[in-house]
Amino acid sequence: MLVPSKISRIAQIRLVNCHPEVYEPCDDSFALVDALLADRTNLLERQPRLCLEVGCGSGYVITSLALILGEENNGVHYFATDINPHAVEVTRKTLEAHGVQAEVICTDIASGLATRLEGMVDVLVVNPPYVPTPEEEVGCEGITAAWAGGEDGRSVIDRILPVADKLLSDRGCLYMVTLTANNPLQICLLMREKGYASRIVVQRSTEEESLHVIKFWRDADVEVKEPNRTSPTGMESWLSQFSRFPFRRNSNS
Ligand SMILES: C[S@@+](CC[C@H](N)C(=O)[O-])C[C@H]1O[C@@H](n2cnc3c(N)ncnc32)[C@H](O)[C@@H]1O
Repeated sequence: MLVPSKISRIAQIRLVNCHPEVYEPCDDSFALVDALLADRTNLLERQPRLCLEVGCGSGYVITSLALILGEENNGVHYFATDINPHAVEVTRKTLEAHGVQAEVICTDIASGLATRLEGMVDVLVVNPPYVPTPEEEVGCEGITAAWAGGEDGRSVIDRILPVADKLLSDRGCLYMVTLTANNPLQICLLMREKGYASRIVVQRSTEEESLHVIKFWRDADVEVKEPNRTSPTGMESWLSQFSRFPFRRNSNS
């Protein structure tokens, strides 16, 4: 039986590198790390061999994940990607400052890694650019790429979901940050059609917005094209976790 360590370390802010063009750890980064900490026992039980962060920014999250999995999980391989070359450099320095080994690659989502890592990723973590913006800001150079999410903040998220499905192993899980404006219920339904169950691990709300960290994992019981909308114990109980969300189609409505 696995006995979780009483001390879970995460990346130390003072050792996290920075650069004016790289996203600094913020409330969303902390929420994602809190979700990983909250789910640590489950993560350890899955005995992950390969972990990936898409959009690593400062390296705070991938470093924290490695420290959270810690010594109980020796031999885990860590990968991180970012479209911003400055973020790749900063992440490398943050990892080094914590004595963590990882392969950090400058690429769009996981391009160039998909064949190598197909069906092998046990833990995928993503704090994507989710802010609704004009479409032309998506993928801009530097810091703008950190938040510019296009219409409904979904442009990058919607490209990540099929990649996640391709990369995740049978026991793999995805932890992703979303905003209310991204229509997280619709994201969960999209993933459900691919055979993934989902649950909110962390939710943080301000007067204006709600931020959620959602966990997705393959579940044979949801491997259906259309969820069973007539089953009270199935669809309704699954939907109930979203009842507090003021969902809307876009940020203006
Ligand atoms: C909200 S920031 C999160 C940074 C870090 N993971 C954290 O939580 O502090 C989003 C990151 O995704 C990167 N990014 C944006 N579009 C991307 C893409 N298409 N492929 C890879 N990374 C991308 C940005 O450069 C940025 O570093």
